[in-house]
Amino acid sequence: MSYGTLAGGYSAVAKLLHWLVAICVLLTIPIAFWMSNTSPGPVQDNLYNLHKSFGVLILTLMLLRTAYRLIAGAPAPDPTLEPWQRAISSIMHTLLYVLLLAMPVVGWTANSAYGASTPFFGLFDLPPIVGKNELLSERLFTLHRWTGWVVATLAAMHIGAALQHHFIHRDGVLRRMLPRSMRGA
Ligand code: HEM
Repeated sequence: MSYGTLAGGYSAVAKLLHWLVAICVLLTIPIAFWMSNTSPGPVQDNLYNLHKSFGVLILTLMLLRTAYRLIAGAPAPDPTLEPWQRAISSIMHTLLYVLLLAMPVVGWTANSAYGASTPFFGLFDLPPIVGKNELLSERLFTLHRWTGWVVATLAAMHIGAALQHHFIHRDGVLRRMLPRSMRGA
């Protein structure tokens, strides 16, 4: 990912969008595995609705976040990082942006092709993106499930790297993304 302005570090808007997306992803993935391993019934229906709603919320937040990042830029990498660490973190962040935009679109398309509704927290239903198509739905759901494992792995690596910087290297990488009030000395 390229770096633009934001010389003073991540802005409050960038941090808010980061943590909102993080919370949604940390809820959406476990709900996905839970709903797939629950027997059919009202509990499973509610889990599906919750999964779809959080997925749509992630798409909305990620569209805002991508637009904000393209307009406002991001701070340069932490100066203590080696060039290989900068390269890896740039690849990871780009992959996370791309997958968190693609995942909900694939899920929504697969769901539309299946002929199921796409509710948003019981407030309204989103329209189908494509018409009913059983084969397309099967293929896209397979893609959605496999990509889910990739997103879960990348999210775990991302969190692991942030914690390693904070507790083992004791540098300022994680603190850059924390609200001012939590940054400490
Ligand atoms: C970033 C957003 C999303 C993530 C990270 C995500 C993640 C996942 C994962 C990991 C699974 C696999 C569960 C398993 O196989 O045990 C799954 C399944 C599913 N997702 Fe998503 N999802 C997202 C967005 C959406 C959206 C927006 C929709 C629909 C509007 C959706 C609908 C579904 C459905 C219906 C399944 C079950 C597929 C099946 O049973 O074959 N997802 N999702």
